[in-house]
Amino acid sequence: MDKKRGKTLTITSGKGGVGKSSIVTNMAYILGANMESVYIVDADLSLGNIDIFFGMTPRFNIKDLIEGKKGINEIVVEGPNGIRFIPATSGIAELSSLTDDQRNILLSSLHELNGYDFMLIDTPAGISSNVIYFNSISESIYIVVTPDPASITDSYAVLKVLHNKTGRKDFNIIVNMAKDEAEALSIYRKLLSVTDQFLNIYLDYVGYIPVDANIRIATKKQKLWTEYYPDTPATKALVKICNKMVS
Ligand SMILES: Nc1ncnc2c1ncn2[C@@H]1O[C@H](COP(=O)(O)OP(=O)(O)O)[C@@H](O)[C@H]1O
Ligand SMILES: [Mg+2]
Repeated sequence: MDKKRGKTLTITSGKGGVGKSSIVTNMAYILGANMESVYIVDADLSLGNIDIFFGMTPRFNIKDLIEGKKGINEIVVEGPNGIRFIPATSGIAELSSLTDDQRNILLSSLHELNGYDFMLIDTPAGISSNVIYFNSISESIYIVVTPDPASITDSYAVLKVLHNKTGRKDFNIIVNMAKDEAEALSIYRKLLSVTDQFLNIYLDYVGYIPVDANIRIATKKQKLWTEYYPDTPATKALVKICNKMVS
């Protein structure tokens, strides 16, 4: 039996609606198509929606795990391309801030999982205690930022809090919904100019995903855009990002 544990990474952001869950699910799809074995953890515990992106209705979720009613392998759901995901709940406010005991249950359960190449953790937006926690337990932190000025300032706020609370210095930046690569790079540089001035951290530009009308069409149909539109610009851009992740 393969007991290896792969890379763990969080996808996080300052502002909501920047495309984190969309990126996580489609990233998993591309990695899965590439024969990488992938877990997704829906860490937006109280407003999770990974299941919606897959068009699935899980029977159990992370609440059953945290309450000790189910084991991790009983709540894991299999999606396309062999992707396995751990569903969250929607509308259960009490999970929006985990207690220490709940964190311990969750962490030891995640440690039971093995034999994967990537564990992608989709966090809520913002700087809640759960966001800080999930970023602290992952090896790599990916911040999604868009050209929206609020997204840029909120990304800075998240970077500052994550750095101060976890001591992490290395962060990866994905620019989503940019017009083109030039705009994406200018967003990255804007962010870099403030972090270089005020924080002792490193930002690695991983890539960008263009704004792409096919994403909204696929999302409305609860289809993955990478599956539905394999040749659309957003898919090509995300494939490039995934190639970087596996190399
Ligand atoms: N590059 C893009 N171009 C067009 N629409 C996008 C793009 N990325 C994401 N979206 C759309 O933005 C919305 C919010 O995405 P979502 O992944 O739910 O954000 P988050 O998880 O950060 O809150 C979704 O309707 C999604 O289809
Ligand atoms: Mg989301």
